[in-house]
Amino acid sequence: MDKQNDHVQSLGAVDATSLQALMDAIPAGLLRGRRVLVTGAARGLGLAFSHCIARAGASLVMADRLEALLQQAGVALRATGAEVHTVTLDLVDPASVERAAEEAGQRLGGLDGLVNNAAITNSGGKDAHALSVATWDQVMDVNVRGTWLMSRACHGALKASGRGAIVNLSSDTALWGAPNLLAYVASKGAVSAMTHALAREWGGDGITVNAVAPGLTLVEATEYVPQARHQKYLDGRALPREQQAADVCGAVLFALSDLSRFVTGQVLPVNGGFVMH
Ligand SMILES: NC(=O)c1ccc[n+]([C@@H]2O[C@H](COP(=O)([O-])OP(=O)(O)OC[C@H]3O[C@@H](n4cnc5c(N)ncnc54)[C@H](O)[C@@H]3O)[C@@H](O)[C@H]2O)c1
Repeated sequence: MDKQNDHVQSLGAVDATSLQALMDAIPAGLLRGRRVLVTGAARGLGLAFSHCIARAGASLVMADRLEALLQQAGVALRATGAEVHTVTLDLVDPASVERAAEEAGQRLGGLDGLVNNAAITNSGGKDAHALSVATWDQVMDVNVRGTWLMSRACHGALKASGRGAIVNLSSDTALWGAPNLLAYVASKGAVSAMTHALAREWGGDGITVNAVAPGLTLVEATEYVPQARHQKYLDGRALPREQQAADVCGAVLFALSDLSRFVTGQVLPVNGGFVMH
């Protein structure tokens, strides 16, 4: 088996065929010399982003709390020849966030990019009454507080880079008000709002802060989603097909690259036209 095939064997629920096609289309050297930290990189979208970022020529640190899966993912990506490090991270623990950011900077010799991708859903399928306070707090701690803490922990290194780029993962659920997902939707609204505010706070440091808001994408985390919700997306998209992880990668690469140095504070829905704004 050649390196390319090894690549696509190790992606879990991420569709390998569309990801390979996307990776073949990445302009050579798009992120050459960049040093990027991706959170939530052990599986799903974060894993797909990691493969694309490596293919674009960057060195990277993959961070996640799923240690075994993260190690496995790191070994597979390293086998393609990429410079890849793995760092265990629990976004709920402020000390762990600080440690992970510092270790990432040390391993890579600085940081040019941060992809705040890690998040939990947890509140899916429950209405506003059934949602517990504990779940609300968990979702906010990871998705909102974690994004703030990680951005803050990486700020110094991104500023030193002179071309720092933060890419936050929001969600189109916050744009159309998906029901029965309240804590998650509220958390992603907050991520979008933080994207606007941090873009203004750190623009003077040469750091761009943007968000990508995917629609319902086929990965492990969405396997629980009822067919009716999938159908709603299928019926509502301008492009009438399922969304794959590969569909989201181009926007993340763009936001990390020199192609977007005057784009900041923006939230880009990537959802086949399900929500337009
Ligand atoms: N899949 C979709 O349909 C979809 C749609 C819109 C937005 N998103 C967003 O994209 C991002 C990736 O989602 P995904 O679908 O790949 O989900 P996922 O659950 O597969 O990936 C999230 C990753 O974050 C990690 N993580 C969770 N809590 C953590 C913590 N406390 N510390 C460190 N790591 C932690 C998980 O272990 C996992 O590897 C999320 O921000 C999600 O909200 C996904």
